[in-house]
Amino acid sequence: MLQARRTTNWRLAGLPAPSRGRAAALALASAVLLGAVFGTLMTAPVGFAQERSVWDGVYTDVQADRAAPVFSQSCAGCHTLSPDGEGPLAGQPFWDGYTQRTVAELLTYVRTNMPNGSGNSLPAATYNDLVALILRSNGLPAGKTELAPETAAAVRIVPKDGSDTLPANTLVRVVGCLARKGSDWILTSATAPERVDKTGVDPADATRPLGQHTTTLKFVLTRLDAFAGQRMSVSGLLVGAGGVDGLNVATINRVAETCP
Ligand code: HEC
Repeated sequence: MLQARRTTNWRLAGLPAPSRGRAAALALASAVLLGAVFGTLMTAPVGFAQERSVWDGVYTDVQADRAAPVFSQSCAGCHTLSPDGEGPLAGQPFWDGYTQRTVAELLTYVRTNMPNGSGNSLPAATYNDLVALILRSNGLPAGKTELAPETAAAVRIVPKDGSDTLPANTLVRVVGCLARKGSDWILTSATAPERVDKTGVDPADATRPLGQHTTTLKFVLTRLDAFAGQRMSVSGLLVGAGGVDGLNVATINRVAETCP
């Protein structure tokens, strides 16, 4: 039952784990799909206003304490709760792997896959507790309400500075206006890169508010001239942290003829 739980569009069954292998596969598969118009799929944008973050106290200390002996017994053989050592679940590896994901995704991953290969072998509540411990080990504050699948769904994992800078090679989607700059194609008025689990268009892309970013599109294999000035949804891998050097394009779709 919990298995079927999904958060909006960016939960893919299986692994939310970092996308190293996938990155390579994707770069190879870099294919450009053009011209899709998704008018019929349009839906209202998801309301992010009510979303909470991991800084809002989304687990209790009692929970994390309860998980400590379980962790020692069932997890510590392969993981540490610090940034160093084998299988680190705290510090930079945690932020690289989970920034912009939800706590529910982390919980689902742990519950269905851990301890290694024996998912769901522990009581459901124990998995909640273990995720509480992982959050605490990352310096995130405890609160008054226990972490549970229902409460974790809308809790976003973001660094404290709110920078949201995603690591290089993260699979993301960006929506913006297609323009030329020298020999490059770029997106102007673009949204901030949003982490996704699969390439392609989101139904909300045709109408979502645009941003102020400019993104260079790298490795575009197809002529885009016919789409200049139109609203495009692009998915691909960030080149450099936060996409400072652009986006290695996997898919590019027109989602509206006018832009912005
Ligand atoms: C026998 C070794 C082993 C045990 C025991 C184990 N894990 Fe893992 N765990 C792994 C491996 C290997 C991965 C990476 C899987 C991948 O990337 O596909 C992983 C990945 C993870 C991740 C995702 C983070 C990342 O770096 O990909 C979390 C969170 C996690 N484990 C938590 C736990 C918890 C909690 C327990 C105890 C209930 C546990 N693991 C027990 C081997 C183990």
